[in-house]
Amino acid sequence: METTTPLKIVTHDKFCIETVPNVCGIVIFGASGDLTHRKLIPALFELHKKELLPKGFFILGLARTKLEEAAFRNDIAKALRDHGERDKSLEKSFLEFIYYKSGHYTDISALKDLNQNIQNLHAKHKTKGNTIFYLAVPPNLYRDTIFSMKEAGLVAECQNGKCWTHVIIEKPFGRDFASACELNRELRRILDEKQIYRIDHYLGKETVQNILMFRFANSIFEPLWNQQHIDHIQITAAETLGVEHRAGYFEKTGTLRDMFQNHMFQLLALVAIEPPIRFDANLYRDEKLKVMGSLRPIPLEKLDEFVVRGQYGPGKILERKTLGYREEKGVSGDSQTETFAAMKLFIDNWRWEGVPFYLRSGKRLAKGATEIAVQFKSVPHSIFEFLKPDQYTPNVLSFRIQPDEGISLNFEAKHPGPKTCMATLNLRFNYKETFHEEPMNAYVRLLLDCMQGDQTLFVRQEMIDLSWKFLSPILQKWESERIDFPNYDAGSSGPKAAHELINRDGKCWRAL
Ligand code: BG6
Repeated sequence: METTTPLKIVTHDKFCIETVPNVCGIVIFGASGDLTHRKLIPALFELHKKELLPKGFFILGLARTKLEEAAFRNDIAKALRDHGERDKSLEKSFLEFIYYKSGHYTDISALKDLNQNIQNLHAKHKTKGNTIFYLAVPPNLYRDTIFSMKEAGLVAECQNGKCWTHVIIEKPFGRDFASACELNRELRRILDEKQIYRIDHYLGKETVQNILMFRFANSIFEPLWNQQHIDHIQITAAETLGVEHRAGYFEKTGTLRDMFQNHMFQLLALVAIEPPIRFDANLYRDEKLKVMGSLRPIPLEKLDEFVVRGQYGPGKILERKTLGYREEKGVSGDSQTETFAAMKLFIDNWRWEGVPFYLRSGKRLAKGATEIAVQFKSVPHSIFEFLKPDQYTPNVLSFRIQPDEGISLNFEAKHPGPKTCMATLNLRFNYKETFHEEPMNAYVRLLLDCMQGDQTLFVRQEMIDLSWKFLSPILQKWESERIDFPNYDAGSSGPKAAHELINRDGKCWRAL
């Protein structure tokens, strides 16, 4: 049975932080690629539509493909239409500040030419020399690209200190602890930490940002937010999609690197974090770091009790037959890459001692759903004789990250009627129904923050180091052993071993 909360919205306008981005130009390296077309351009267009772009602004795309500027603009227009945009006049005004240059990202002389273009565009659009470089290039090119950018004079901050250069770097940041440290060393030889924006798009999702507000802007939940009252926490990021056209990337990556090292651990940190004394970029990120630093290392000799990997075989999603991972284009016929992982974790600190955190993420699962579910302990004693304490449905507070973005809390109540009977009810808040609008695209928020020089929702290197430090031994062990894949059907709820991982503790995964 479900009830919907009649929510009256009171927005504290006077407490809203105004978003005033600085004038700037954004230079996208990898402008003909998938990320640019599917994520960056739609996000920049949304900013344009909402009149949130600064008054002086331009976008300059750089890619290896030889292309006339007009052809690039046509591609952008198509990307917008594919994304459902239909407003011709907005499209026209958007295309007016888009430019293109072809060249190799590591070719210093091409980048010197690019620098000239950038300077001209700064003068034309009155953008005061402020530049964002977005590296949407293959990760193996990060190092050389940054080095060539430096040689071409692209990344130096203005000498008068009146303008800035920010560099946004997409994940993956390395593929293990050693390579992440090395990449960071190289970046820091050239860039100052305040110039580096390591993006994790999960942090830009409204529902993810909300976790902190929910926890620290209400007083009723926080007293319960600890080992005394919480039985366990589940974090799920399930997708129905397979690897699509990204087999080349995914084959070398796998779910632990692709989803856990970044998105899953960020969600974990947010739900487990201590309150920072202020919502300040560094204080807040210091607290996240403490969570990562308190993760109990997983005993490698008992790895299977704590971590499970899976790879999908053929199956059915929404009644449509789908291929197994090994049959996908670009995937090796005996691939050992995991498309699913589940993990049981403990955080060794005062608040969380003994509370298991169960994390799972996978591709080609029965349903696409990302959620954090906080399950509270059962009642200590049952005064209703017909029920034992563990027969009550436990209270679960669930943060629905996507889809159906919202929050729900279930509780037991009396079922009306002459009998003494209980029902489990659900208090539910849904973003779209309440605010009558779609939650903002994550990239919109993150691009805006970068224009304002706000690094709060970007990832600091220490967090990346700690997450790799935790995962690298597991990955190494996995790489030394062959496993019998596939071990779950596309369209299922994942491998049997993932269910056993949680069932052994007398608990079960939430239905997808
Ligand atoms: C990306 C991963 O970072 O996140 C993809 O590389 C994954 O493999 C995606 O599909 C999931 O993001 P979202 O926003 O769709 O949950």
